[in-house]
Amino acid sequence: MKKDSRSPAVELKGVVKRFGTLVAVERMDLEIEEGSFVTLLGPSGCGKTTILRMIAGLETPTEGEIYIEGKLVNDIPIHKRNLGMIFQNYALFPHKSIFDNVGFGLKYKGVPKEEIKKKVEQALEMVRLPGVEKRMPSQLSGGQQQRIALARAIVMEPVVLLMDEPLSALDENLREEMRREIDNLQHALGITTIFVTHDQREALSMSDKIVVMKDGVMQQQGNPEEVYTYPVNHFVADFLGHSNFFNGTVIESKDDQVKVKLVDGNEVLIQHPGVWDAGNRIELVIRAQKFEITPDEEEKAGEDINCFRGKIAERSYMGGEVSYFVETGSKTVIHVIDTSKSRPLRRGQSVRLQVPPNQCGLLPMGD
Ligand SMILES: Nc1ncnc2c1ncn2[C@@H]1O[C@H](COP(=O)(O)OP(=O)(O)O)[C@@H](O)[C@H]1O
Ligand SMILES: [Mg+2]
Repeated sequence: MKKDSRSPAVELKGVVKRFGTLVAVERMDLEIEEGSFVTLLGPSGCGKTTILRMIAGLETPTEGEIYIEGKLVNDIPIHKRNLGMIFQNYALFPHKSIFDNVGFGLKYKGVPKEEIKKKVEQALEMVRLPGVEKRMPSQLSGGQQQRIALARAIVMEPVVLLMDEPLSALDENLREEMRREIDNLQHALGITTIFVTHDQREALSMSDKIVVMKDGVMQQQGNPEEVYTYPVNHFVADFLGHSNFFNGTVIESKDDQVKVKLVDGNEVLIQHPGVWDAGNRIELVIRAQKFEITPDEEEKAGEDINCFRGKIAERSYMGGEVSYFVETGSKTVIHVIDTSKSRPLRRGQSVRLQVPPNQCGLLPMGD
């Protein structure tokens, strides 16, 4: 493949995929920079696997073009695209040794034996499982098998690594370990990676760019901080992080400071870029972790800004953090996650919640 250094590693232009009348992927434009780690994030059925399969060449787009390293690949078969693929269920050959599993693609390509041996050895070292060549897949744990799948992919030196929910079959601790493993390996090799998951923590912790999907439609793309801090709509705000939503109306807006009156009468000051006309209906988003929660003391009562008062209706202690559901006078329930080291508060206790103006998000009403 002729390489054009100005092209993205992978590019989708107006890509649509329909299965009969079902639109699995709606007109999608996406550029994936060389060496970057991009995650397609969204709930089950939103079209993530279909996008990956189209890039791989396992599905043909109904409309639009897919480019790999600047070259149109719509009509190029899967084995000529030089992509590495890893799926949830490892898909190792059960009756072949680890050596044969990892070396399979190289042998198929006609690489000389000695070279295969060297490359398999290197790949196994990279996934930190040196010396397991003679073992069978069944003799390895789930996490180790997944690392073998990773070794089998990288040994081919693919231009892009495609991973479809590779961690979802692993238990929690192992998942965390593999997440770091993949992250480190991707950085060490600098290999362009497209990772699919429905798990926001995986997406936030590993990605250079997150592409949030819903019902086949891209909702937002950006780096993790952007997407988390400035969600463009209710869906994204809800899907990434624990969000509280409040309906309200803009009272005034000046120099990125927006004053909003909530439905329950509470007034909130928000620091948020953009033009927000007085009278416009908005949705206020506050992450559960952004509140400061303190016992409500009578003498402190007053008109402090961005303050909510209520009683703790539910509480769960989770080690490093405490999760509270606080019921306000207007029966609104606010989810608060307290990550400070302060002593847990009691169920039924009256509390005061405060949020800084620059920790609130604003969304236009109607989406
Ligand atoms: N081969 C297929 N035939 C018909 N419908 C399909 C096929 N593959 C996927 N779909 C449908 O396309 C939509 C997107 O599926 P998929 O890409 O697997 O979503 P995700 O990976 O995000 O869970 C779903 O509604 C799914 O049922
Ligand atoms: Mg899928």
